[in-house]
Amino acid sequence: MDCIYFDNAATSWPKPPGILEAISDFNEIIGANPGRSAHRRSIEAARIVYTAREKMASLVGVSDPLRIIFTKNATEAINLVILGLLNPGDHVITSGMEHNSVMRPLRYLESRGVELTVASCSGLGELDPDDVRRSIKKNTRAVIVTHASNITGTIMPIEDLALVAHNNGILFCVDAAQTAGNLPVNVEKTGIDLFCFTGHKSLLGPQGTGGLYIKKDLEKYIKPLIRGGTGSRSEFEDQPDFLPDCYESGTPNTIGLAGLAAGIEFVLSTGLEKIRKKEVHITGLFLKGLQDIKGVRLYGDPDPQKRTSVVSFTIDGISPSEAAFELDERFSILSRPGLQCAPAAHRTIGTFPEGTIRFSFGPFTTEDEISIGLKAVETLSMGI
Ligand SMILES: Cc1ncc(COP(=O)(O)O)c(C=O)c1O
Repeated sequence: MDCIYFDNAATSWPKPPGILEAISDFNEIIGANPGRSAHRRSIEAARIVYTAREKMASLVGVSDPLRIIFTKNATEAINLVILGLLNPGDHVITSGMEHNSVMRPLRYLESRGVELTVASCSGLGELDPDDVRRSIKKNTRAVIVTHASNITGTIMPIEDLALVAHNNGILFCVDAAQTAGNLPVNVEKTGIDLFCFTGHKSLLGPQGTGGLYIKKDLEKYIKPLIRGGTGSRSEFEDQPDFLPDCYESGTPNTIGLAGLAAGIEFVLSTGLEKIRKKEVHITGLFLKGLQDIKGVRLYGDPDPQKRTSVVSFTIDGISPSEAAFELDERFSILSRPGLQCAPAAHRTIGTFPEGTIRFSFGPFTTEDEISIGLKAVETLSMGI
């Protein structure tokens, strides 16, 4: 039986046409290591990696593609920033809506002498930039926040937060795992210093891809996470200090980046505004339908314009994990229950420790699927 896939916030599915072809073409026609050997196929592999950089840079408003660094996911990109930038004695501010990919490296550094402030958010998951401003101290080095919550979809006021950070000489880092590819953003114009993204969610690429943008000259202050062969300056035993090589030691996931380039191309050619419009429409339909079902509690703002296509809810009388099991078994609807790796966010919205049922839609979600989803939730809410 065909499934209805409502787990795009974990990883997107289906992938658009072109992704598998790009992966398979790389495997069959190129297959070489980029930037390592000077032969034609190695050069072709390097061209593919550069194309992925160029497409990502153009999607998010970065003028120099060489300032896009590839990692294996958003988690690695965020760790690179947090562990590379912060030192004992520094102070860092984050929000009460963060994913553990931000919280865990920060809590680790907190145990090693970095001061951490978690600015609290409203019950809808909103962060007030004034709360961040009030938390700033003399030793504050960075503000690190998610662009949108993976629990409520709440979109954070990144323009205002960037201003707060810059007016106080602090670096501003955005975790765009939930937004790159579904929310328009211009990284340079907004004043984002560090922008971490993942390739396998709304950028529609394969798993094992992600990366970050690093603003000019910041590489002087951010240590690499790993060091090793880069194919460049092989005569030196010290790590190169230029981008992207400084942060990209070892053979990259070229086959994955071939797929990522195709995913980003799909987003570029479809148009981010069009994708966003469709996701707002689909999410709006679901939110509206959900509010009419008795015994269902919805979290986050009911206005689809204020969120991404991620919807968390609970059904009275049935636990999130039981509900997700029933949705899968009886209705072939694939969702994600529980804490979704963001315990802080669940504490903020009052759903810790059981969590919520999370439906997350993508560019291929249809109105029919939304209707089936609503009917299934209604059936469970009636206890049948
Ligand atoms: C807000 C947020 N940050 C970070 C991540 C981690 O992304 P990845 O699994 O690509 O490392 C996720 C993944 O769900 C997320 O939702």
